[in-house]
Amino acid sequence: MSSSNPLRDPADRRLPRIAGPSGLVIFGVTGDLSRKKLMPAVYDLANRGLLPPGFSLVGFARREWAHEDFAQEVHDAVKEHARTPFREEVWQQLIQGMRFVQGTFDDDDAFERLRSTIEELDKAQGTGGNFAFYLSVPPKSFPVVIQQLKKHGLADQKGGSWRRAVIEKPFGHDLKSAEELNKVVHEVFAPEQVFRIDHYLGKETVQNILALRFANTMFEPIWNRSLVDHVQITMAEDIGIGGRAGYYDGIGAARDVIQNHLLQLLALTAMEEPSSFDADALAAEKTKVLGAVKLPKDLGRDTVRAQYAAGWQGGTKVRGYLEEDGIDASSKTDTYAAIKLEIDNRRWAGVPFYLRTGKRLGRRVTEIAVVFQRAPHSPFDSTATEELGSNAIVIRVQPDEGVTVRFGSKVPGTSMEIRDVSMDFAYGESFTESSPEAYERLILDVLLGDSNLFPRTEEVELSWKILDPIEEYWDNNGKPAQYPAGTWGPAEADEMLERHGRSWRRP
Ligand code: BG6
Repeated sequence: MSSSNPLRDPADRRLPRIAGPSGLVIFGVTGDLSRKKLMPAVYDLANRGLLPPGFSLVGFARREWAHEDFAQEVHDAVKEHARTPFREEVWQQLIQGMRFVQGTFDDDDAFERLRSTIEELDKAQGTGGNFAFYLSVPPKSFPVVIQQLKKHGLADQKGGSWRRAVIEKPFGHDLKSAEELNKVVHEVFAPEQVFRIDHYLGKETVQNILALRFANTMFEPIWNRSLVDHVQITMAEDIGIGGRAGYYDGIGAARDVIQNHLLQLLALTAMEEPSSFDADALAAEKTKVLGAVKLPKDLGRDTVRAQYAAGWQGGTKVRGYLEEDGIDASSKTDTYAAIKLEIDNRRWAGVPFYLRTGKRLGRRVTEIAVVFQRAPHSPFDSTATEELGSNAIVIRVQPDEGVTVRFGSKVPGTSMEIRDVSMDFAYGESFTESSPEAYERLILDVLLGDSNLFPRTEEVELSWKILDPIEEYWDNNGKPAQYPAGTWGPAEADEMLERHGRSWRRP
């Protein structure tokens, strides 16, 4: 406990965590992410009273905007996408610290203007020199922005102030490019100044994996190869690629979300208990388990990639991937990927982890299903258990956040018939508070300097090490399979599990 005020221990998790004097500079402020997620998250934090009174938001972009135009953009984005209700008094306070700097990333004058804007804000808003730079920009622009920050003294932490860099994915497109990027970033920023965003780690339900496993006694003893048959991690989306052809084509589903979100989910599901929830202790366990991931021997049999073909979704006819605007008709980019991984350690030896993701699937759902072995012996008549599946614990990440435990139960009646039933915990029913958006949590953590929920360099590089051989195999072997939009993926993915006597869940 703090000696100055024994009633307010800063480490007390029950107290609201409020950011100190600070500001946020967003590069790429005219982009989709900024409008849909970042600007609304800043407003929601302000609305919840978690930002300091003089908090400042600086947009940097090529657009010919005055400060007022920028403020109007933020206003519209907030009105459209914020989670919490619009309150004029919160908005009026926030707008005091809003500035726009017009320029391109190679424009030295623009970075000088950014420097003087920050100095002006320090005086007018009391931001204390504490600024985070959010790089919501294409990867090819990372190096120039980072170099410009250095060149114009914006990365310097003077007189006890802090400067932080927030980096959006994709963090490279393979191990080599990720290593190069890491080098560029770390020539300017020390490791503790760098915050790599994997927004899945900001989701409440993802953090709940840790609570479920390590705050309880009943799950951990069964969370291993003695009882677990396999684990399925699914991130299904019903949307197509929308207007993102430029980003998505050539990247594909595996690079877009398996390399980051799904491997982070795997790490949290499979890692050992950290000695504490300090960033270092957590990263050490995640790194260890990612380092123990083993690829299948036969990548042809145990990985599948596919593209959506035309089909029906929610009663609407939708185009196939190759017919989307901006996509080359010969593109081999995967919009669906399924891979089998194993983890070479005592806890998980021999237990497959099946990861799958896809666009234009049956519905939007992300879940982790830990599927258990069948009972070693059944005293029941085989007809009694015909409809009994495997026991499972399903962590429902979204949209219907919660946890389901599935087990067999006697069907009421005179005969012994056993069927699957489920026991549900739903966030919506158990708690009155609604969950903050991932970006709210992550931006607040950046301002607080709390790096628990941000993957480290090693995690990013290990994840590319896992994916690179798969991408290389796909590059050199054939074409993606096809699946009609609105279905649960290609037949090849079903066959991949059937060969092992298993099947995908249909969430
Ligand atoms: C992003 C991917 O990281 O996550 C997108 O680039 C994907 O392709 C998105 O649609 C999904 O995020 P969420 O939070 O809606 O599951």
